[in-house]
Amino acid sequence: MQEFVSVDETVRQHVVDALAQAGIATDHGFQQRLDAHFADLCRLFRTLYGSRPDWQDQLAALVVQGARSWEERPAELKALDAEREANSGWFLSNNMLGGVCYVDRYAESLEGLRTHIPYFKELGLTYLHLMPLFLAPEPHSDGGYAVSSYRQVNPKLGTMEQLRELAAEFRAHGISLVVDFIFNHTSDEHEWARRAAAGDPEFSDYYWIFPDRTMPDAFEQNVREIFPENHPGSFIQMEDGRWVWATFHTYQWDLNYSNPDVFRAMAGEMLFLANQGVDILRMDAVAFIWKQPGTPCENLPEAHILLQAFNAVCRLAAPSLLFKSEAIVHPDEVALYIDPAECQLSYNPLQMALIWESLATRDVSLLAQALERRHNIPAGTSWVNYVRSHDDIGWTFADEDAAELGVNGFEHRRFLNSFYVNRFPGSFARGVPFQDNPKTGDCRISGTTASLCGMEVDPAEAVERILLAHSVAFSTGGIPLLYLGDEVGQLNDYGYAEEEGHDADSRWVHRPHYPAGQYALRHDASTPAGAVYAGLKRMIDVRAATPELAGTTLIDFDTRNRSVLAYQRPASAAAGGETRVLALANFSDQPQSLPAETFSGFSTAAVDLLSEAALQLGEGVTLLPRQYVWLRVTPV
Ligand code: GLC
Ligand code: GLC
Repeated sequence: MQEFVSVDETVRQHVVDALAQAGIATDHGFQQRLDAHFADLCRLFRTLYGSRPDWQDQLAALVVQGARSWEERPAELKALDAEREANSGWFLSNNMLGGVCYVDRYAESLEGLRTHIPYFKELGLTYLHLMPLFLAPEPHSDGGYAVSSYRQVNPKLGTMEQLRELAAEFRAHGISLVVDFIFNHTSDEHEWARRAAAGDPEFSDYYWIFPDRTMPDAFEQNVREIFPENHPGSFIQMEDGRWVWATFHTYQWDLNYSNPDVFRAMAGEMLFLANQGVDILRMDAVAFIWKQPGTPCENLPEAHILLQAFNAVCRLAAPSLLFKSEAIVHPDEVALYIDPAECQLSYNPLQMALIWESLATRDVSLLAQALERRHNIPAGTSWVNYVRSHDDIGWTFADEDAAELGVNGFEHRRFLNSFYVNRFPGSFARGVPFQDNPKTGDCRISGTTASLCGMEVDPAEAVERILLAHSVAFSTGGIPLLYLGDEVGQLNDYGYAEEEGHDADSRWVHRPHYPAGQYALRHDASTPAGAVYAGLKRMIDVRAATPELAGTTLIDFDTRNRSVLAYQRPASAAAGGETRVLALANFSDQPQSLPAETFSGFSTAAVDLLSEAALQLGEGVTLLPRQYVWLRVTPV
């Protein structure tokens, strides 16, 4: 113990000297945060880099960089920092509603996006994720996920100044700006990559570059192929014959975080984005950021330390910034990224996948099991619940969980894939396969929500399925996230096959352009677009008026009916509540009756918040096919 304290002290003195030498007069606020967070940052940084002789200099340089960034942080962002530090649970509110869109496809440009602000207000958005908008290679950029400069907006979308202005305008309207932090890799056109390709040793060390196939062959024994249709394995050969790690596409080169220069460089890019007014960073591909020979190179312990270290840098220099984890991996691993000191927010890929699974099977057992055992997460963190994203749907449930219910994971995934690409008799879905891997039998699914719900087959049923799916994402607990356009039932866009750079990637089928015609119909509930909109809008409004739906705490509820999902959301003590919301959702195509005994723990009088109908639970509850209710109940 004694030894650690003294090491900390020496290091701390080293940092203080470095700050003085850099001529930085840190203000009171920075000093206070340095006092509060330095020990953590130091411990994390030392865990990652302590074996290097220069680690203390590296750490001092990092803190100096943080102090500079704080100096440059605009006053209105510092005011927001103070506000959010005083109300650290702001994002757990039941009025939070997320949306996501591609700037170019939804609105042509950042300027165009401003004209949609009145609509965002109409919908009730408080969180908007703009898909990657940075400089990227054309036409192959993986939808912007290959970044050539984190400090430059893609010129076809606008400028960094416009992004800053848009962030301020969003802020004035109560909308938090979310952008990606694509920190696992850069594009091969990034300045660092170009210099590495030119043989510069300093920048060659920014990536995982090897002179021959020895190390690549060794690594590839254990790592998974993510885009096998694009390139098998995880490495590609450079022009000079060397091999570079590329987990995703050939032009996305993985950064080497075992090099502290890379950590510092990316911390600089992160703080730059924070100072533009970004509220939340979507931490892209977190599972892959640390590599170690002899391991699968996913979800390694150091990946967590690295995220915590980035988070500690934020606590110093951009205190209100939050992280959202994008880990599309085994549910045990997803959970490990969720922590106030790591990622405060996380996509909920398990719930997403199991909503689709329940729609296909009309059996909610797996989803109910997931809610029971995998939903509750640490205080001060939140799920981001979604029905679908810009990416494919992968069947990420745990085989062990499925086995407990007598389901064989491999067979079940095969069934789900064939169901969603309409190779299964009677399927309503019109999806498209993504990354069909004949070697492993693995495949994922592309498609818009409406097309996967059968809008092309039976619009009336499809509308009900779309709403049923969202009723779960909107009420289990966490921030609901809409893929914009889905709220008016947008369909698959097969035109992607004609678009340069998109033809080989079926995910573009579910990334259509702004569906203007559908939006024009949104107030006409006799149309499918209008019916979807009205149903979702009702859920949004009711959710915002229902304190029980804040936060993420969920109590499971067994209906003893395999088609009816149920869960309870208790009012927090702060909300003074004795009441709960009991959500019921019938995934069957038949009416389902739940007998009075099911509700024996509650007073008989209940009200469905969505329809405002009064119910007597003592008479049991009958749900129509695909019906969902949010009952306010009182436990006895
Ligand atoms: C993320 C993105 C995905 C992209 C990949 C590589 O998982 O969601 O669209 O292909 O990262 O950056
Ligand atoms: C894999 C990755 C995920 C990525 C997706 C893109 O599932 O785990 O990070 O978003 O592929 O399709």
